[in-house]
Amino acid sequence: MYHRALSGFRDFYPPETALRNHIIDTWRTVAGRYGFEEYDGPPLESLDLYTEKSGQEIVEQLYAFEDKGGRAVALRPEMTPTLARMVAARAESLKKPIRWFSVPQLFRYERKQRGRLREHYQLNVDVIGERSYLADAEVIAVAVDILRALGLADSDFCVRISDRNVIRALLINAGVEEGQLECAYAAVDKIEREKAKNLTEMMVKAGIDERTATEVLRIAQLKGLADVAEAVEKAGQDSEVIGELDSCVDALFSMGMGGVVTVDCSVIRGLAYYTGVVFEIFDSQRSMRAICGGGRYDGLLESLGGVDLPGVGFGMGDVVLSELLKDRGLEVERVGLDVFTIAITPDDQAEILSISHTLRDLGLRVEYPLKQQALGKQLRLADARGARIAVIVGPDERSENKVLVKNLKSGSEQRVHKSQLTREFFAHDG
Ligand code: HAM
Repeated sequence: MYHRALSGFRDFYPPETALRNHIIDTWRTVAGRYGFEEYDGPPLESLDLYTEKSGQEIVEQLYAFEDKGGRAVALRPEMTPTLARMVAARAESLKKPIRWFSVPQLFRYERKQRGRLREHYQLNVDVIGERSYLADAEVIAVAVDILRALGLADSDFCVRISDRNVIRALLINAGVEEGQLECAYAAVDKIEREKAKNLTEMMVKAGIDERTATEVLRIAQLKGLADVAEAVEKAGQDSEVIGELDSCVDALFSMGMGGVVTVDCSVIRGLAYYTGVVFEIFDSQRSMRAICGGGRYDGLLESLGGVDLPGVGFGMGDVVLSELLKDRGLEVERVGLDVFTIAITPDDQAEILSISHTLRDLGLRVEYPLKQQALGKQLRLADARGARIAVIVGPDERSENKVLVKNLKSGSEQRVHKSQLTREFFAHDG
């Protein structure tokens, strides 16, 4: 029977693995540059870790089942609840602010489309134990620097930022009642994907009158700090309400990242636990789901672990990013072999084994054929492996303790003594 990977799951052949590793290496390098430390947790968690706080959407996408001990468990669909659980368990002994990152593989039963699968790797960068807007700006800066480090230009992406407290204040002022906020948030979240008529209908069904519903859609379309500040003032709200968002954007300008940031009230985020600044990064064409999303969650550790610690962070997936890098021709070059070693006759084999292992000990990437073959066939394999240099030994070379070094790119050849095969020799040759 012919088997395939399940729908929404990926086989990583070497080129796909190389791209994934390139993305993950960049995540680790940039997060490390900001002083974040790596952690990890289990891929399988207790089901109620997600049903309590993550919100309806993600709960519907859970891979959940009963284990053989009768426990209700789920494959992790996101990392934030695990992080909250882990930090809460050691809250007292950990030095605040906690700056941690992780690269978990996550699982969500979603409808498969470009940029959206049923498993993905997701960088999580979080600061826990700090309420200052500088923590918000810090995590956003990590995300921007990663995209730059991957070779994307500032014009390739856009950080859209908002604040749930600001939107909440504007919605309440517009006449939305506490109990209707969730529905109004859902309408704000869908403003760019759904027709206004459908969103109004959805709100009216939840008891929001038509005039207020129209106002909700108007608020969702507010863009730019100045317009949002004006709306806050017109709503008779204290300018304090917008203080955090304002200061965060200012800090990003000071970091040289102001040009990629847009204040956009349609950003509210689907997860239920966000409490303040929220943000998403999209590719400029908006061709796929967000590259990255996150925000402030000041009540999550309290509700999952009983400790009052604020948090802010984001998740950045590898799927959208891979597509984007491929679209922009920013994929990784294949790392070929440094040296392919070739024995001309079976009697030269032992010499080739000895030389190959000496070169490997020097840190070079070396391969030889695993059975005796004609020279032409061996050279074709060397070429297929992307080798730079062939080291060839025949009876003549062996009798003189020499080897023939062939540069496979330029075709030049030289006979050298074995003792000349140093790292420096291979660094210069080719
Ligand atoms: P999220 O918005 O659900 O946030 O996911 C973050 C990112 O993960 C998305 O922007 C997207 O790039 C990627 N992603 C999510 N689901 C999929 C999927 N099915 N296929 C491909 N990529 C996907 C969270 O998960 C929050 N826990 C992030 C966070 C960390 N907030 C604070 N700290």
